[in-house]
Amino acid sequence: MKKITIAFLYNVRHRYPDPYDPRTQLEADFDDPITLKWIIKHFKNCGYNIIPIEADERAYGKLLRNRKRIDIAFNFSEGLFGLDREAQIPAILEILQIPYTGSSPLSQALMLNKAKAKEILIANNIATPPYQLFKNADEKLNGDMVFPLIVKPVSEGSGAGITNDSVVHTQKKLIKQITRIQQTFKRESVLVEPFLTGAEYSISMIGNPPRILPIISPNHALLPKGINPIDSFEVKWIFEEEGGHSEYLRCPAPLSNKVSKKVESLCFATWKALQIRDWCRMDVRCDAKHNPYVLEVNSPPGLLPPEVSTTSYFPLAAKTAGIEYEKLLDLIIQTALKRYKQ
Ligand SMILES: Nc1ncnc2c1ncn2[C@@H]1O[C@H](COP(=O)(O)OP(=O)(O)O)[C@@H](O)[C@H]1O
Ligand SMILES: [Mg+2]
Repeated sequence: MKKITIAFLYNVRHRYPDPYDPRTQLEADFDDPITLKWIIKHFKNCGYNIIPIEADERAYGKLLRNRKRIDIAFNFSEGLFGLDREAQIPAILEILQIPYTGSSPLSQALMLNKAKAKEILIANNIATPPYQLFKNADEKLNGDMVFPLIVKPVSEGSGAGITNDSVVHTQKKLIKQITRIQQTFKRESVLVEPFLTGAEYSISMIGNPPRILPIISPNHALLPKGINPIDSFEVKWIFEEEGGHSEYLRCPAPLSNKVSKKVESLCFATWKALQIRDWCRMDVRCDAKHNPYVLEVNSPPGLLPPEVSTTSYFPLAAKTAGIEYEKLLDLIIQTALKRYKQ
């Protein structure tokens, strides 16, 4: 049987995320060369031909030259430029009529922009925290913005711009944090939400229609004193990735039937409202009364191979479901290929 040829689209990070160096936050969503090397190796082990293509200005030319050979593109790109960067490679693939894994340009743009995604969720009666978008740090707070608040860049990922200082209790700290985000990420508006204090869940979804893999819940109680219970830049990249705290991420998450049902129906509704395809990972957090709210959707989710990390959320959820790393890569490809045959 003819081998399937995959174009693997990715973005490279040049520096490991460092909470003390804001420049590294701009590349936080990208992947280290070693991660990419291992992913490519695992694809080869699955029996695929693979054409690695960096998702930069030259990507269109490379895809155009190779389009006859490519059966499907594995879109692992985050995009380099502009506010809608995650939509760009899918748009190029549409132009070239190359089948690809994951969601369409429209969905990708929406999932990157947390405020726009929330507008859609709210229009569909899907629970997400209320929010306010700040262009100027000293704008008046809306009535539903009650301290403590959390301050986030509107369209970043991987904890970029979210540090231990992101949870604010006073107007003064709020202004300081909004200004900091504006300076680090330049032209973006800043998203502010009430800070939810309940349990957090990470939900990995795959398939069309999707199934939910075992849910992950970080045990915030294990964080050192003085560290806020959020998946901040420091917690993601130092405590989780480098700290070897294997007991921190609980998978399957301890969840009552009642909350689990609520979380799952929230995720299925979100998948539908944002027209998601193939795979994604959702962040959900509860308020103090155990009511879950959608924080954001990750697409593509991180996929650190076992040689690099054992705490990468999507592979961890898959492994808990009995799907080892290579099987997972294969499943994503097969899920997309099947969709094109439907
Ligand atoms: N409204 C909120 N209430 C409580 N915690 C939040 C809220 N928004 C974000 N967080 C915390 O910050 C983390 C990162 O925020 P998130 O919106 O998921 O951004 P990123 O795209 O960087 O992952 C979340 O995993 C959660 O721990
Ligand atoms: Mg997140």
